[in-house]
Amino acid sequence: MVTIKFTFEDGSEAKEVQVEEGYSVLEAALLNNIKLNHNCGGVCACSTCHVYIEKGMEALPETTEKEEDFIDRARDPRLNSRLSCQCDLMEDGTFIEVLVPDQSTIIAS
Ligand code: FES
Repeated sequence: MVTIKFTFEDGSEAKEVQVEEGYSVLEAALLNNIKLNHNCGGVCACSTCHVYIEKGMEALPETTEKEEDFIDRARDPRLNSRLSCQCDLMEDGTFIEVLVPDQSTIIAS
């Protein structure tokens, strides 16, 4: 299992969840009723699933050029920005902390 702690820019209470490896961070959020926009359906063709990886970046796959292009179009991109649909949880036993941007500022489809 992978443990993910979700924290929220909008001030919502943090939530810690456990998911099987193989899921993405986006899937882990949705499986646990955490609102995270995903306008393109998780195929790296938008930037609405943008998150900040506060801890555990080394446990995630490397960022591709395509992902970087879409991160550049996200609101307030930072060095630890990722697209959550592209962050597959690869390693059992890892801990990841994810900061979710305020979803009310993102235009959902
Ligand atoms: S849902 Fe569109 S890039 Fe992740």
